[in-house]
Amino acid sequence: MFKTKITELLGIEYPIVVGTMMHLSQAEFVGAVSEAGALGLLASANYQDRESFRQAIREIRKRTAKPFGVNLNMFPARKRLDNKVYIDVILDEGVNIVETSGHKAPEDYVDRLKKGGVTLIHKCVGVRYAKKAESLGVDAVTVVGYENGGATGRLDITTLCLVPRVVDNVNIPVIAGGGVSDGRGMAALLALGAEGVIMGTRFLVADECPLHPKIKKMLLTATELDTTLVLRSVGNTHRVWKNRASETTAEMEARGAGLEELFSIISGDQTKKMYFDGEADSGLLACGQGIGLVNDRKPVVGIVAEIMAEAEAARKRLNGL
Ligand SMILES: Cc1cc2nc3c(=O)[nH]c(=O)nc-3n(C[C@H](O)[C@H](O)[C@H](O)COP(=O)(O)O)c2cc1C
Repeated sequence: MFKTKITELLGIEYPIVVGTMMHLSQAEFVGAVSEAGALGLLASANYQDRESFRQAIREIRKRTAKPFGVNLNMFPARKRLDNKVYIDVILDEGVNIVETSGHKAPEDYVDRLKKGGVTLIHKCVGVRYAKKAESLGVDAVTVVGYENGGATGRLDITTLCLVPRVVDNVNIPVIAGGGVSDGRGMAALLALGAEGVIMGTRFLVADECPLHPKIKKMLLTATELDTTLVLRSVGNTHRVWKNRASETTAEMEARGAGLEELFSIISGDQTKKMYFDGEADSGLLACGQGIGLVNDRKPVVGIVAEIMAEAEAARKRLNGL
C-alpha cells in the first residue's frame, strides 16, 4: 500500500488522480475511477447549463460513495458557463474537492471555495506558478511536465526535472505527472517527493472512457513518437496525437493562421466528431508521450490494480538493490 499525504488529504485508497479530460471526463467514467479507489475529476466545462452539470454530479454519486472532484477550467474557451456558476452548483451539491487548471492562478475562486469547505488543488506547469498557488492558500498543487497529454504551457520542463524542483519549493503536497502511464513511473515520481500521481493518457483506453472504440484501437498501436505539440503560435500549446488534424493545424500555424481560422479544426464540434463518432482525422486528441506504454484495454479498476502492482514491484526492486 502507498499511504501518502494525498491519499490522506483526499480520502482516496491509492495516490492516483485521473486527470480531467475535456469531453471525456463525464459521470460514468469519473464514477468508475473513484469507485476503483483513485480520484476521478468531472470536467465542469462539458456542461453548458447548471442543471446538466448538477445531474452529472448526482450521476457520479449513484455510481460511487467514494471521493471525487470537479475541475474548473480556466483555459480560454468559447463555450462554457462562467466558473462562478459552476461554483454555485459545486457548493450547493456539497462537492468537496475541486481542481483548477488554466493559464492563471485561481485567485478569483479560492476564497469562496475554501469558505465552502472545499479541498482545492491547482494544476500548473512550473515552479513559480506552483508557489503562487500555494501563496493563495490552495491545499495541494499538481504539476505536469512537458511529456503530458493536453496543455503543456510554454516552459517545456520535463517531468523528471520539474517534480523535484516543485517539491523543494512548496510546502503543500505535490501531485505530479506528465508521461506517467504505469506503476514504475508512479513509483519514480513518489521517489522524487510527489505525494500523488496524475495520469490522463493511460486512461484514454479504459473501457469506461467514452472515447470511440476505433480511436482506442488506434491508440493501442501508437508509440512515444506519435505525439506532437500544436497551438503554440496562439499561446495555447497542447500535446496531441499525431493525425491529419494535427498536421493541418501545424501547417496553418506555420503560415500564420490566427485563432479564428484555426477554429475550423480545433473547435469542440470537430473534436467530438473524432472522440464520439470515431472520425480519426477530424479533430485534435490530447495525448501524452506515455501512450507508448499503453498496450491494452481493460476496465478502470483493472488499470488501477495493474498500476499499483507495478509500483509495488518497483519498490521491491529498489529495496533489493
Ligand atoms: C484527452 C485529454 C484531454 C484533456 N483535457 C484536459 C482539460 O480539459 N483540462 C485539464 O486541466 N487537463 C486536461 N488534460 C490533461 C490531464 O488532465 C492530465 O493533466 C494529463 O493527461 C497528465 O499527463 P499524461 O497524459 O501524460 O498522463 C487532458 C488530457 C487528455 C489526454
